[in-house]
Amino acid sequence: MKILVLSLIWAVCSAKPTIFSDPKPTPTCGYESCHPVKDGMINVHIVPHTHDDVGWLKTVDQYYYGSKSSIQKAGVQYILDSVTDALKKNPDRRFIYVETAYFWKWWMNQHDHVKHQFKRYVKSGQLEFIGGAWSMNDEATTHYQSIIDQFTWGLRKLNETFGVCGRPKLGWQIDPFGHSREMASIFAQLGFDGLLLGRIDYQDKSNRFKTRTPEVVWKASDNLGDAANLFTGVMYNTYSPPSGFCFDVLCSDEPIIDDPHSPDYNVDRRVDEFFAYAKNVSRNYSTSNIIITMGEDFTYQDANTWFKNLDKLIHYANLRQQNGSQFNLIYSTPSCYVKAVHDEAEKKGMKWKTKSDDYFPYSSDPHSFWTGYFTSRPTIKRFERIGNNFLQVCKQLYVLADLGPEDQVDLNSLRQAMGVMQHHDAITGTEKEHVAHDYARILTEAIKECEIISSKALNKLVESQPSEDVNIEFSSCPLSNVSSCPFTENTENFTVTVYNPLSRPVTHFVRFPVLGEAYQITDDAGVPVETQLVPIAEFVLSIPGRKSEAVADLVFQAIDIPPLGFKSYNVQAVKRVVETKIKETNTDYNNDVKLEIDESTGLISSVTMNNITTPLTQEFLFYEGYVGNNEVFENRSSGAYIFRPKNNTPTVATNRVNSTIFKGNLVTEIHQKFNDWIGQIVRLYKGENLIEFDWVVGPLPSKGFGKEVISRFVTDLKTNSTFYTDSNGREILKRVRDFRPTWNVHLEEAVSGNYYPVTSKILIKDPVKNVEVAVLTDRAQGGSSLRDGELELMVHRNCLHDDAFGVDEALNEQAFGEGLVARGSHYLVVGSADGGAAKSERDLAQRKLLQAWTFFSTIGNQSLEDYRSKFAMRFSGLQRSLPRNVQILTLEPWIGMSVLLRLEHVLEKNEDPVLSQPAAVDLKALFTPFDIISIKETTLGANQWLSDNSRLHFATDDETPERNPRYIVVNAEDDFIITLNPMQIRTFVVDINRKG
Ligand SMILES: *[C@@H]1O[C@H](CO)[C@@H](O)[C@H](O)[C@H]1NC(C)=O
Ligand SMILES: [Zn+2]
Repeated sequence: MKILVLSLIWAVCSAKPTIFSDPKPTPTCGYESCHPVKDGMINVHIVPHTHDDVGWLKTVDQYYYGSKSSIQKAGVQYILDSVTDALKKNPDRRFIYVETAYFWKWWMNQHDHVKHQFKRYVKSGQLEFIGGAWSMNDEATTHYQSIIDQFTWGLRKLNETFGVCGRPKLGWQIDPFGHSREMASIFAQLGFDGLLLGRIDYQDKSNRFKTRTPEVVWKASDNLGDAANLFTGVMYNTYSPPSGFCFDVLCSDEPIIDDPHSPDYNVDRRVDEFFAYAKNVSRNYSTSNIIITMGEDFTYQDANTWFKNLDKLIHYANLRQQNGSQFNLIYSTPSCYVKAVHDEAEKKGMKWKTKSDDYFPYSSDPHSFWTGYFTSRPTIKRFERIGNNFLQVCKQLYVLADLGPEDQVDLNSLRQAMGVMQHHDAITGTEKEHVAHDYARILTEAIKECEIISSKALNKLVESQPSEDVNIEFSSCPLSNVSSCPFTENTENFTVTVYNPLSRPVTHFVRFPVLGEAYQITDDAGVPVETQLVPIAEFVLSIPGRKSEAVADLVFQAIDIPPLGFKSYNVQAVKRVVETKIKETNTDYNNDVKLEIDESTGLISSVTMNNITTPLTQEFLFYEGYVGNNEVFENRSSGAYIFRPKNNTPTVATNRVNSTIFKGNLVTEIHQKFNDWIGQIVRLYKGENLIEFDWVVGPLPSKGFGKEVISRFVTDLKTNSTFYTDSNGREILKRVRDFRPTWNVHLEEAVSGNYYPVTSKILIKDPVKNVEVAVLTDRAQGGSSLRDGELELMVHRNCLHDDAFGVDEALNEQAFGEGLVARGSHYLVVGSADGGAAKSERDLAQRKLLQAWTFFSTIGNQSLEDYRSKFAMRFSGLQRSLPRNVQILTLEPWIGMSVLLRLEHVLEKNEDPVLSQPAAVDLKALFTPFDIISIKETTLGANQWLSDNSRLHFATDDETPERNPRYIVVNAEDDFIITLNPMQIRTFVVDINRKG
């Protein structure tokens, strides 16, 4: 009955024969499918959407299937089913979908007729993919390599399934807790036209609204010029509907009741309310287009309740135009909105304001700085980085050894697991504990599947004559972080194969636990190498859950491992005792790295490196987490998202550190015990210009109050309130204490309001002394410089209370029935501020991110001589190293027999006089196992040929007449010499010819 009445009105008013007509015969996706806007009106873009976290309060599978509804009533499969049905009912309706991890799970389970129907919606623009990565990644704690990977994988699935119409055009980062500049740069390089954001600092937002500048052109790179410019808008109400207009079955807002005879008839009032809201929105934006999001977390499980009411809202609101209303409501998508904004700005000759800093840290009220999650769940954050390391190794080995399509499935597991890990409630540590365990499970299983690949590939590469019957098992040691490895502990004679995923040779210190008293190690040529047995620190031996008997690690130096290649070493237990324990208080290596220890405190007091000696103290302290009932801002607790110390002065962990020095021929270690739950091993390596701080923190005593532990480096550098942090492991951003570049900040939280994400590095410089002190991390952490000359990094935290942003659990990680122990490394580099330090930091960052991977295998019953004669002990994937400022960022099997190759310039333009120059790479005869026969350049995500991409141009108010070219023009097709500017990444689909 209702429907009949409704369709009648429609037929009259919208001058269409009927709303239930079939989709237009010639479907067109993209901007052509956008509903037209009306000049001279406020065009209200109604955007139906659902925000589907790839794990948060429930695991990925629980969300997909809709189980555990007592935790949250959310089932993604129902959303996609239901939206598919609802789009059929009215071709004007629009919907966007974001998370390809979920979409793909659903797609694989659909019947052909559903797939066919769904494809029609994509072709007609009714259903639009946006973002399109495997998950909506966090922007603070993620590394650019993994962000690019997870976009590549998601976009590839969409392109393969839907072609051009499945290609997203917009970034949709509506829930991540602050926004990095590198992410915007990545979107620009993906060929996207814009980016819409949900969360920025509340002061920033109110300031932008006042000045009508929530929309800017983000200058997202200091190096790439206009190529990295991106139109970026901040939405009015994060991603929520106007208050009172949530039509979901999960909501209880009033539907639109349009039967004039009903006592509950409310159309006039509801339309008035909506207009009042739209007016408010419009006041804060600079064009006559506004976007109103109609969706929430996991909404649209029953899409009909939304669309039925939105149909009516749009209809009745637009009827008012006959009475002079200025509002024009249309079903829209974010990209249709951005296109309308673009077109209007072009027409009016508007110039956009620009922005060149980032949106960190994010605060949602005066006491809620979302800076705790920079560190929350530190062991998941490290595990994710190991996942990336191994994924790159695995992909490279796959290509080098020419594995077949049948092996792709094993590789895809890790590709997808890493995509899941990037999600803004996964790597961030803002999920429930059971979900964190499930992420660890997903990643563990995927790594195991990739071990099948790497083992198979290595078998092919070591065999000089291919044979079927040889099958050496190359295994890894996942528990080496607690110095436990059943293989090396229980085998007397074995092979260590060290694979180097970098595009230049590296020297790497290999370390594994052993039970024997002495070992002999010979290299690939049979020449004995230096070894050292290092005692395992007592506080490592006692880490809960450690099962090993080993009390010593065996260390050796794998020198010059070939680029994209390996060297194999033989390890044999022998009868000879080596004495390594020598007590001393200062260390003096054969290279020029030195440190001094203050005997009264046991702390380091000065370091010497790169011919610079500087006073430097390093110690551990902890903040006490604030506990409150969260009912008013002042009572906000520190929690998984929020860092809020009770006092701004942290407590020192100890007044007296117990230090023992173990001097050695390869590595000298200082074992420092700070207290019952903090230990650290400081290491100086032969020939390495760095000092490693291997910290072991936990179980954090949970008695009394939550502890948020920092490692603090204190120097005498004059730093003028300034420090620097990296953006997703790539470009470096300047930070100034108590300051924001685009508004006058008022900080009620002096500590957490100055915390920034440190994805891989934090540093301070003294320009007068020309000294730079940098600390590189092995995972994302929060960090700051709260006083001149100081750096601090938060390494571990427990919070005894929830911070009331949804997780509803205290962040108090447990393992083996106790608090979780976290272990990790900081790498200290001291060098000259005008370039010397930057160069070695870049070098080091790569060697730590893509660390040489150690595989262990037995030689069986045969003699070492036999083994050597049968199997290759050395392999290089490259015929020659790449220049020091260039890396192969990606080498992976691609569609059909093609290969995906990404090259990156790894320095910024002002970091080094020589290495910051443009670089050239000749792809001819570069790889050992194959020749490249053709290359075709794509956008960063490899889902579009670069020559086919053109982005919307948004004029800026500081634009110079001659704009930088988008990319350097190189005719890649007939010239295999690729040039790269500082920080440039270029992506190629490559056809190859296998040799031999
Ligand atoms: C997109 O997918 C199609 C197959 O659907 C493929 O032919 C094409 O090469 C892909 N585009 C790119 C840039 O890889
Ligand atoms: Zn979310």
